[in-house]
Amino acid sequence: MLVTGKELLLDAQEKGYAVGAFNINNMEIVQAIIDAAEETNSPVILQASQGGIKYAGIEYIAALGKTAARNAKVPVALHLDHGTDFDQVMLCIRHGFTSVMIDGSRFPLEENIAYTKKVVEVAKAVGVSVEAELGKIGGTEDHITVKAKDATFTDPDEALRFVNETDIDFLAIAVGTAHGVYKGKPELDFARIATIADLLTVPLVLHGSSGVPDEDLKQAISLGISKINIDTDIRIAFANGVKDFLKKDPDNFDPRKILGPARAAMKEIVMEKMHIFGSVNKGWK
Ligand code: 13P
Repeated sequence: MLVTGKELLLDAQEKGYAVGAFNINNMEIVQAIIDAAEETNSPVILQASQGGIKYAGIEYIAALGKTAARNAKVPVALHLDHGTDFDQVMLCIRHGFTSVMIDGSRFPLEENIAYTKKVVEVAKAVGVSVEAELGKIGGTEDHITVKAKDATFTDPDEALRFVNETDIDFLAIAVGTAHGVYKGKPELDFARIATIADLLTVPLVLHGSSGVPDEDLKQAISLGISKINIDTDIRIAFANGVKDFLKKDPDNFDPRKILGPARAAMKEIVMEKMHIFGSVNKGWK
């Protein structure tokens, strides 16, 4: 069933688990995530980045996400990840996304507030949830790169003001994670998560969660993280699935044979994450 991001995250916040938000680019990825969610009875968020939308086309990606969600036995939200362009956000809303992220983190605070508010006004009018970002999360997610020296942690007081003034539904906070593959072990600022969670009433989002140790993710959830974004770990499972198959059977040219094992590998990793996030058996059944 297709639901909004807000509905999913308020349940997660209340019960102390996190909903996995997994990036989608093609049919096999969507199927892997939905299969994992149904098998574990987990609520889930399918999220498409601007890069994913460019690759697949808005019509295709929206149709894939909505078809998967409507047929799923678990609640599913279709979310835009890191929307940096107002028109793109509007296009996603028009195509039936139930949740959007407006990422104005590149702007100074006042401009980020103004830019985010513009999206909230429209999205709220049509019942679509809004995520925004405050602070700057390091690493690369498709078209957005933030160098380590430019990454800045979220200031708790600014976060309170930001949420009060924009009326967003959930907030992505920068607390030491980064998009992409980590070179060393990520150091999460758990005290900052706790402080922000104490001050704010909206659910909190952790980006750059691939490669973060399971125990750290569990601690972050116990302190108030309700949405956890995973892209890189799925990409790695996909690439390894394809490479392993072709190593064993280099002359095979059937796309179904080549992509099938990759789909199974992605499903495994998504299921593992759902167990870590505590979303198993929270599928509203
Ligand atoms: P990873 O690159 O760690 O998977 O992060 C994905 C993400 O945060 C998408 O917004």
